[in-house]
Amino acid sequence: MKGLILSGGKGVRLRPLTDTRAKQLVPIANKPILFYCIEQLVAAGITEIGIIIGETGDEVKAVVGDGSKWGVDISWIPQEAPLGLAHCVLVAREFLGNDDFVMFLGDNMLELELASLVHQFINDRNNDSLSCRVLLKEVENPSFFGVGVINDEGRVIKLIEKPEEPPSNLALVGVYFFTQAIHEAVLAISPSKRGELEITDAIQWLIDNGCVVDHHILDGWWIDTGKKDPLLECNRLVLSAVVGDIAPSAVIDDGTDISGVVQIGEGSVISNSIIEGPVVIGKGVMVSDSQIRPFTSIGDGVQVFGSILKDSVLLEGCVIDKAGLINASLVGSNSKVSGSTGSADSNTLLLGDNSIVDLS
Ligand code: G1P
Repeated sequence: MKGLILSGGKGVRLRPLTDTRAKQLVPIANKPILFYCIEQLVAAGITEIGIIIGETGDEVKAVVGDGSKWGVDISWIPQEAPLGLAHCVLVAREFLGNDDFVMFLGDNMLELELASLVHQFINDRNNDSLSCRVLLKEVENPSFFGVGVINDEGRVIKLIEKPEEPPSNLALVGVYFFTQAIHEAVLAISPSKRGELEITDAIQWLIDNGCVVDHHILDGWWIDTGKKDPLLECNRLVLSAVVGDIAPSAVIDDGTDISGVVQIGEGSVISNSIIEGPVVIGKGVMVSDSQIRPFTSIGDGVQVFGSILKDSVLLEGCVIDKAGLINASLVGSNSKVSGSTGSADSNTLLLGDNSIVDLS
């Protein structure tokens, strides 16, 4: 079983942050989203992982490296343009060979026991001549996703990409299990209205051509992190499960009050502040005369002076100086947000890297 991670797309819904970085590298609790899916594949025992890359490929390669930090082999597969999820399977043909594979959308975050699903798929595909298994989740807004219809035996009988009138509330989650049967399907389909080769259409082709496609309902949470608010929701979910860890080299003065689950990285200095977990603070961070309220992730080298942060993600190297309350915000790396003493307004920001905002 191989793993195929899709990390090519442009991330237009997270602009301007994604003008300068790949959406899959935006951190959740100080770890790039892409690492969570690599780690899920690794935990499922998959050691050969192909990653589809596009325009941001060099940056993704530099951050991920050769896979040795997870003990896996990573093959880089360039896609010349974002021409669809089925197109990714097409360009990955050589890497995939005739092996079964799990395809994982690199911007999807989910609570999943991938190991047992991989095991079940390997087992069932032999017994039931299964060609594909999709993961489905009940959602309130199925029109935003691919939608599946299943019959009484659990077979998938129809899949439609972002239907205006959804035939069910079962959305296609961005994790798919395939056998080599998919390769004929991706060659047979034509581009959709949005000009892409849709994986949904390729799976429908399998169904129409007599292949067995079944499903698994995802019980845990699932977030397509492509927009700010879902990304912050994901940050809350991940922070809810972190374990407290304060590095011995962190310096925390007596005027600081820490409660809840808190991580503080090496060399960070916290003075005269309130830190209320769950909160993750990276390395070399400086916080003074400030409040870091729950569900905040602070990247390496950030400096926070006289401000309140809540429910936000700050990327590395930001400076937040007397900026009042920064709430429900996503702040790109090396950005500077400043205000004036006593500024108490609540500000919600989505800033790209290297932004400068004066709130005074
Ligand atoms: C893609 C798939 C869709 C699936 C979704 C999950 O949509 O086409 O079927 O439900 O991922 O995140 P896209 O993100 O390309 O709009």
